[in-house]
Amino acid sequence: MRLTILGGGGFRVPLVYGALLSDRAEGRVTHVTLHDLDPARLAAIARVLTDQAARARAEGVPDAPPAPEVRVTTDLDEALRGADFVFSAIRVGGLAGRAADERVALDEGVLGQETVGAGGIAYGLRTVPVAVDIARRVARLAPDAWVINFTNPAGLVTEAMSRHLGSRVIGICDSPVGLARRVARTLGVADPAAARADYVGLNHLGWLRGLYVDDRDVLPELFADPDRLASFEEGRLFGTDWLRSLGSVPNEYLHYYYFNREAVTAYRQAKQTRGAFLHDQQARFYDELAAGQDPADPAAPAVREGAAWDAWDRTRAEREATYMAENREAAGAGERTADDLESGGYEYVALALMRAIARDERTTLILNVRNRGVLSILDEAAVIEVPCVVDATGARPVAVSQLSGHEAGLVAAVKAVERCVLAAGESGSAQEAVKAFALHPLVDSVQVARRLLEGYRGAHPGLGYLRKD
Ligand code: G6P
Ligand code: MN
Repeated sequence: MRLTILGGGGFRVPLVYGALLSDRAEGRVTHVTLHDLDPARLAAIARVLTDQAARARAEGVPDAPPAPEVRVTTDLDEALRGADFVFSAIRVGGLAGRAADERVALDEGVLGQETVGAGGIAYGLRTVPVAVDIARRVARLAPDAWVINFTNPAGLVTEAMSRHLGSRVIGICDSPVGLARRVARTLGVADPAAARADYVGLNHLGWLRGLYVDDRDVLPELFADPDRLASFEEGRLFGTDWLRSLGSVPNEYLHYYYFNREAVTAYRQAKQTRGAFLHDQQARFYDELAAGQDPADPAAPAVREGAAWDAWDRTRAEREATYMAENREAAGAGERTADDLESGGYEYVALALMRAIARDERTTLILNVRNRGVLSILDEAAVIEVPCVVDATGARPVAVSQLSGHEAGLVAAVKAVERCVLAAGESGSAQEAVKAFALHPLVDSVQVARRLLEGYRGAHPGLGYLRKD
């Protein structure tokens, strides 16, 4: 089976490759094509994968199947032809773009974050035209391929692609599975993977309203026990009182809504934004790898075997330890614990999804797919995040309990914003882009929205397509 990874020079590609290496079953991925615009990033990541395969061989069981063969290319069409699965994890504008998304918003006094609020809208405006171009090419060059979208803002980008690929594009995020797993573990559920999560919303905007073990909802036990409630990441982030008021466990990204003022203050006071921090951190990583490289033979092994892997693993650990650090600081939530650090692992969600489709192994995963009537407040084509049954025919959302008034209000408001971003992306209308900013619950004035668009236009050449009407 052939997997193509778009954004193949990206930092998290070794996570995906690691998941592939652990898969020994029949029908596993045998060929991986990495596509990226930047050959130096491709060469660096290819070296990490070479080290990774060597480590797996050294540690592996005898008779383990060979590691998936890796090929790199900067030609998108070539990368897509013949692919069974396309994994899209691109970052339009790079981490410098992410840092600018944050800065412009924070300078206006509103939230600057990769996926939420003004920053997420700017990132969406930049990404939608590129994602649509990819979707059109996949439809033409690899019409039978399944596209797994991890590109943020994942729900919005998946919806943009679904207009060209229908249900052949499926969005993934590791936040919901991580949340359900942490709650299950806190409650001492014997097999967390078997518990059924009543989770629904949009990507980075959902709530766990129930957790069923053998058809019994065990979530009330969490709310009845303040010590347990305070013991896991979301409990410390939101505080037990607020979780009890809600009666559900929100996705961690709802911290930006419920504690917006504190989050904005913390982000403005931080030495660096998350994007700026990751930009510098990753520049060091890619520079370190480029330094030991022979320009005449970019695929040659690292100076010392294993050095590329060590540099990558060190960088990854630091990234995970500092995830949402400002939010945790604002909430007095302390450092991340070992349990917090063990995320849902989007690479395992991706692998489970590919296995279910390719081998017709029926499973349930929380994914971003078209609503198809599950949430009555949204139309059929709206992409939502919801548990889905997956098999060879794809992913179908399962019935969940309906949203409360508060949840429905937020979901409808943010979906309306997403629709403005999609309209702007398709028509090039600056008016739609201003509307997207202005209608967002975390942007407090139309004037602010107008200035935001001007600020982002100045910062991003990729927004040049937006025309004043
Ligand atoms: C979570 C989110 C992802 C995000 C990731 C890394 O897993 O669900 O959407 O990409 O965190 O965040 P970072 O701030 O390290 O880029
Ligand atoms: Mn996510």
